[in-house]
Amino acid sequence: MFKSIFAMAACALALTSASAYGAQTQSPIRIKFAHVVADTTPKGQGALLFKRLVEERLGGQVEVEVYPNSSLYGDANELQALRNGEVQLLAPSLAKFEKYTQQLQVFDLPFLFDDLSAVNRFQKRAKGRQLLRAMEDHDIVGLAYWHNGMKQLSASKALLVPGDAAGLSFRIQPSSVLQAQFQQLHASAQVLPFAEVFDALKSAKVQGAENPWSNIYSKRLHSVQPYITETNHGVLDYMLVSNPRFWYAIPHRIRSELEGIIDEVTYEVNRQAEAANQADRQRIEASGSSQVTVLSEAQRDAWRQAMRPVWQQFEAQIGSDVLKAAQTVNRKQRD
Ligand code: LMR
Repeated sequence: MFKSIFAMAACALALTSASAYGAQTQSPIRIKFAHVVADTTPKGQGALLFKRLVEERLGGQVEVEVYPNSSLYGDANELQALRNGEVQLLAPSLAKFEKYTQQLQVFDLPFLFDDLSAVNRFQKRAKGRQLLRAMEDHDIVGLAYWHNGMKQLSASKALLVPGDAAGLSFRIQPSSVLQAQFQQLHASAQVLPFAEVFDALKSAKVQGAENPWSNIYSKRLHSVQPYITETNHGVLDYMLVSNPRFWYAIPHRIRSELEGIIDEVTYEVNRQAEAANQADRQRIEASGSSQVTVLSEAQRDAWRQAMRPVWQQFEAQIGSDVLKAAQTVNRKQRD
């Protein structure tokens, strides 16, 4: 008797919570997918491909609405909106989760990953996969990692040696690691939402930024940054996230189909991200608005030495197990 009352209460609670978070058992289940970049970027393309495949395979059962360019929620409120059940899918960059877990800050450590392939290897290994679950206590569950690309430094002046950045103010994402990285260069850092970067650079509120080629090109940042240095000093990748109360309340058959679609989309996004960034790099060069500097190995090493102390600063917060696992993924081993 007691058992069945308990079971009924649990069932009622699950249904209330499911419907409060938008995954009612009746169709269609509505998924709002909000993000802050343009449709043409790797993330923008991924969101649209997800919508298309869901329409093809789950039409009438699941509806997807995509809101690019911070048109529904922006950096300041999107994660809270997900936790409140107001939006069901996001793909914030890994730098934007610091409030919920410090472990993901490993991705922001400068010069930790040699390239996107190394990042990919880390994300596929056990430690990387564990991090997808690091925020469940905060109502955030990671469904996949999506690549964008390696970041480049841009500024109002040429940046050849680390000392060239001293005294400049750089726009950063909300990450203590990124703040510390610019402190190492004797530069200052200002946290600004992505939607404000263009205006902040144009008005010289900040003089520099760090972005992958696709974000520079799609937001025309090169038109207000006369110098770009190809530093590849860090990665800008994403975690596709949902609210576990919404996600696990989706009927099993539909959720399995959605997870299969996410696997396909993830494969496509990650397969194409590098080429998309390289194409945008060429478009930026062809535009003639910015001078793109390619560093020699020795020059790049000087930037690496300047920023490298940040690793020790954050090792305890990130967890030395996570940092060690990440250090094993480069092809070329260093200290
Ligand atoms: C940024 O704020 O620079 C990026 O996280 C934007 C994005 O989503 O690529």
